[in-house]
Amino acid sequence: MVVKDKAFKKFILKEEIEKKVKSLARKINADYKDKRPLFIAILNGSFMFAADILKEVKIDCEISFVKVASYEDMESSGNVKQLIGLNENIFNKDVIIIEDIIDTGRTISKILEEFKSLGASSVEVITLLKKPKSKNVEANFKYIGFEIPDKFVVGYGLDYDGLARNTKDIYQLKD
Ligand code: IMP
Ligand code: MG
Repeated sequence: MVVKDKAFKKFILKEEIEKKVKSLARKINADYKDKRPLFIAILNGSFMFAADILKEVKIDCEISFVKVASYEDMESSGNVKQLIGLNENIFNKDVIIIEDIIDTGRTISKILEEFKSLGASSVEVITLLKKPKSKNVEANFKYIGFEIPDKFVVGYGLDYDGLARNTKDIYQLKD
């Protein structure tokens, strides 16, 4: 598959994703059986994974969506990430964040920090994909779909320059 100017090959097939989604959902159904978690999916990348996994979640739950906006901060000259669209009161809630991929782990760390400061009683992360760079991030991610090598992937929600989110399989950049 060619996306813009780069060639990609099939990497994780839709059948493998479906199986993984079901097994992750089973764990959540068991772990949260006496609770009523609030799922918060991080847009845009996690929209497909979130829809699929939530169809398999059988416990009472709330579902919401946020975006992470990045902007350059003049003073720190770093890339600052800000959560937008969080309308729910998450105080005392059992929050489960749904992510598409954790790469360096910077995005998810920022989100975790923010949710904890808002008084959630627990915050866990479910991510479909995880790359090895995030090893030194100090959070333990309880629900991980696939640990993948440090190569660019697209499809099933993940994009390259806004493209290729709309596939059933996940593709990896060809060497
Ligand atoms: P992190 O802050 O480095 O963990 O970056 C996480 C974000 O980077 C993800 O939510 C994606 O939007 C993006 N990202 C990281 N790796 C990939 C990839 O291989 N394909 C598409 N997007 C990626
Ligand atoms: Mg993302």
